[in-house]
Amino acid sequence: MVEPTAPILIFDSGVGGLTVLAELRKLLPDAPVIYVADEAALPYGDKSEAEIAARVCGLLGRLAERYHPRLICIACNTASTIALGMVRDVLETPIVGTVPAIKPAAAITKTGVIGLLGTKATIRQAYVDNLEAEFAGGKALLRFAAPELVGAAEDKLRGATPDPSIFAKAAEGLRSQPGGEDIDTVVLACTHFPLLKDELGAAFGGQVQFVDGAQGIAHRIAYLTQGQSFDRQADDFAIVTGNDQGNPALLEAFRPFGIGRILRL
Ligand code: DGL
Repeated sequence: MVEPTAPILIFDSGVGGLTVLAELRKLLPDAPVIYVADEAALPYGDKSEAEIAARVCGLLGRLAERYHPRLICIACNTASTIALGMVRDVLETPIVGTVPAIKPAAAITKTGVIGLLGTKATIRQAYVDNLEAEFAGGKALLRFAAPELVGAAEDKLRGATPDPSIFAKAAEGLRSQPGGEDIDTVVLACTHFPLLKDELGAAFGGQVQFVDGAQGIAHRIAYLTQGQSFDRQADDFAIVTGNDQGNPALLEAFRPFGIGRILRL
């Protein structure tokens, strides 16, 4: 039997996984959560596959032993598309990953031209090629790496205003590709990017719809924990690697998501 106080662990390289946590709170408001941000290694998207896999497997192994989560959600496209299989191989805990929302995007595009914004590491993964082949056959999927959006989301959550040229560059990176003017649907294939939907919407000029995986992931977690009881008496805590645990702006960013303390690993 799963203990009612056993947490769901949500893991990302930074604040991006909060977009998944927000959806999860709507479905499971009583679920205790530990939110983990590996800020010491952010951004994952600029690292090699081997570095990301080693880091994610190592950290999740330590966290699973220490906190005995009932389920782990890798709320990061970069980490999931690279390391999901490996993490599942080494841990007994149920693992939910985050993969680019190509399937729902393919279902709603009218022009048949889909854009995908992700990190450098995500857009080169075979995992993405396979999703494209499986779900977007007969459609065009144009990819663009927008690593600056990760930093922009981190800055925005800490109260800073990101440089608007970052969003213009992301839109231009897709629009300037052959067929790019017909894009009507953009997959936000990094959990940080939905935090910038307004800015991206303005940069794309309002003619595109954005799709991300957060809601689907929350439903998957709710499905896998069906029948379990949850006992969440107080605010949850976050674990943040690196040197930013004491940053009051970070704690303020976490508070609306029901997180009241930040701890070190
Ligand atoms: N939030 C992460 C993702 O979904 C990655 C950001 C990064 O560390 O590069 O891809």
